Amino acid sequence: MVELFRFYEDRGLVLVKGYMQYVWDSNDRRYIDLHTGHGVAFLGHSHPRLKDELSAQASRLATCSLSFRCPIQDEALDALDKITPKGMDSVMLFNSGSEAVEAALKTTWAYTGRRKIVALKGSFHGRTLGSLSVTWNPKYRNGFPVMSEVVFIKDVSDAENVVDSNTAAVIIEPIQGEGGVIPLSSDLVKVLYERIKAVDGLFIVDEVQTGFGRTGALWAYSYYNVKPDILVAGKSIGSGFPVGAVFSHREYLNSLKGGRHGSTFGGNPLALAAVKASIETLLSDDAVTKANMAGSSFMDMLIKKVQQLRPVREIRGRGLMLGVDLRFPPSRVLNCLQEKGILALKAGVTVVRFLPPYMIGHEDMEVVVDGLRECICGEHGC
Ligand SMILES: Cc1ncc(COP(=O)(O)O)c(C=O)c1O
Repeated sequence: MVELFRFYEDRGLVLVKGYMQYVWDSNDRRYIDLHTGHGVAFLGHSHPRLKDELSAQASRLATCSLSFRCPIQDEALDALDKITPKGMDSVMLFNSGSEAVEAALKTTWAYTGRRKIVALKGSFHGRTLGSLSVTWNPKYRNGFPVMSEVVFIKDVSDAENVVDSNTAAVIIEPIQGEGGVIPLSSDLVKVLYERIKAVDGLFIVDEVQTGFGRTGALWAYSYYNVKPDILVAGKSIGSGFPVGAVFSHREYLNSLKGGRHGSTFGGNPLALAAVKASIETLLSDDAVTKANMAGSSFMDMLIKKVQQLRPVREIRGRGLMLGVDLRFPPSRVLNCLQEKGILALKAGVTVVRFLPPYMIGHEDMEVVVDGLRECICGEHGC
């Protein structure tokens, strides 16, 4: 039989169903899902509104190229309007976060006529060649023909020197996710923003992981006093249906007109139905506020019960994007958690990352925190 090439290590579980914050394996064992497919299922699994909207659309139209109009386009735009950052007036849709980053970069090159991009050390923006070029980790980049016009910087003094009149864009993640759940400092974001504005380049905020309520705000850039020119979204915006989005201004996106960019599947009817249902659910369930509240309780519990353990270096993050930085790689702790019915994922080299759905409950969090404590101490002693 043909074999599925797995990009990631096999966790040895057959997942057969999910409901809200839980998934079940083929032995009918329940797990609290804080992996959520790398942060996708922020609205949980099998949400009735998602199911209804997708199945209704599936029985209408198989596809609708953006050369044509179809009702779901307007319906989805109505919904998208409610989450579009203030001052922006346009959105492009794609099938993944990487593709959306790619389009954001192409927009800045086309609009400014410049090539240089400034990105941050520790960044992750995807694995297609453009998005990989602004991804820092050599583990992902080595051996591939990445662009040479990308400069990676770390701190405020670099920002002042490196962002110049050849720079098309600065790209940041408000909290570096894959890099290890590392929130950017306000100073660094402020200086990057002011510098890129001073040289008439564009400020790209990649919220593929942090966006759509994940950090307890609709968009995490709102924690900083900045206004992105381009905002990139993905993961949870389609609640499991593959969607990437670029929000921006007509003025910038128009530079890709005339066939300079395109996508067969971007903005297809099923994706639009998924986006519409996801946004309506996000708003009607008040998911952002709930994520904020759940995130504070989760952080408090982690600080109370886990932070003081010897193997723990630091606890970081915001809302429901939290990381526990250990003094060793987290694989065994992740396996131990899985044995206890808890799914989490790795970030950086030593971080246990939690990306649960917004409806994770107090009891679930207690189970997770107690389990984490046991797994950390059981492995290395406390
Ligand atoms: C911040 C960020 N940007 C871009 C991507 C790439 O998204 P995708 O895997 O959907 O291509 C990711 C994926 O983890 C991400 O975390």
